[in-house]
Amino acid sequence: MTSHLFSPLTIGGLTLVNRIAVSPMCQYSAENGAANDWHLQHLGSLSLSGAGLVIVEQTAVEPAGRISHGCLGLYSDANEAALARVVGFCRRAGAAALGIQLAHSGRKGSARLPWEGGGPLLPDAGAWTTAAPSAIPFDNRWPSPQALDEAGLARIRDAHAKAARRAERLGFDLVELLAAHGFLLHSFLSPITNRRTDRYGGSLANRMRYPLEVAAAIREVWPRQKALGMRITGTDWVDGGITPDEAGIFAGKLSDIGFDYVCVSSGGISPAARPGIAPGYQVPFAAAVKKASDIAVQAVGMIADPHQAEAIIAEGRADCVALARAFLDDPRWSWHAADALGADVACPPQYARSRPNLWPGAALAHPHRGDGR
Ligand SMILES: Cc1cc2nc3c(=O)[nH]c(=O)nc-3n(C[C@H](O)[C@H](O)[C@H](O)COP(=O)(O)O)c2cc1C
Repeated sequence: MTSHLFSPLTIGGLTLVNRIAVSPMCQYSAENGAANDWHLQHLGSLSLSGAGLVIVEQTAVEPAGRISHGCLGLYSDANEAALARVVGFCRRAGAAALGIQLAHSGRKGSARLPWEGGGPLLPDAGAWTTAAPSAIPFDNRWPSPQALDEAGLARIRDAHAKAARRAERLGFDLVELLAAHGFLLHSFLSPITNRRTDRYGGSLANRMRYPLEVAAAIREVWPRQKALGMRITGTDWVDGGITPDEAGIFAGKLSDIGFDYVCVSSGGISPAARPGIAPGYQVPFAAAVKKASDIAVQAVGMIADPHQAEAIIAEGRADCVALARAFLDDPRWSWHAADALGADVACPPQYARSRPNLWPGAALAHPHRGDGR
């Protein structure tokens, strides 16, 4: 049987060995934005998971662009050096292509760690003033963000480009910009959060303007022989929010400026959002964006069964899939998916004896093999 999921995929200048990506996942474990041993084991293990691509968590382009004090950043030499250690380890340990998601948290920054209750940081716990298109708080528990002026917009745009240059020096294969889940770039796109009356607000063309300016600034510095994409929003799940049609138009604009792929997520812009969560619930948005534009599309969201993932690719609803929680639960998800789909997958020689085809009866010289030889 030939698996579609385990067939190679070229995105921009990057060829992945299969169509499985480990979705970016915040670990809230960094120190002053710098990766540490937690990231070493987390990403090291995932880099040998058999997934074609591992994307490092949402990484802030400036300190105020973090969600929490534990979020990863790529805004200082110390951040860059700490990530260099992790990237070097992943390259030695595994075979996955490595991507990084660059982001600014916008009005959802200055938050407590999820396992400390989430919500806004109190002033005496190192809270900071957040940035947004308009001075509208997330809800009445959150302080008002500051509406960005021209100087602020330019500073954050340039910070994205600078972080992308650092990502290139680190040898990442792919950069993904985050414009979903209610963070800064998403909040420019969404009419729920963007009430500006200047050229960055109002019509869809105006709401897309700032995210496209940031995208163009990154395109300018990120090499064409690598891959460049954006996580976008298929729907806000709120009346008056972003629609799948708007997502398709935005994806087309990204393609026009030379982006290679979009990952279609949803929600996060407002506490009033009512997402219809079910297996594969965001795949219809990915499929709609794929139909509306000529850019490669990644589907994400409650994809956990290998046959479900295979069908998404085989039916042409997306070009690749990203999985988050399934990989936390089972870092060897790709190995088990390959078994289920009759496909080949890379496995480091140290772990080769865990593969069913090397269980009893298979010849493998090893001092601890069951028969004592
Ligand atoms: C622990 C955790 C951290 C996450 N952090 C990020 C992140 O850094 N960036 C992002 O775009 N999405 C993030 N997400 C969302 C996931 O990437 C993914 O889109 C979502 O969990 C749905 O996929 P799943 O059903 O396979 O988990 C996170 C999800 C989890 C569970």
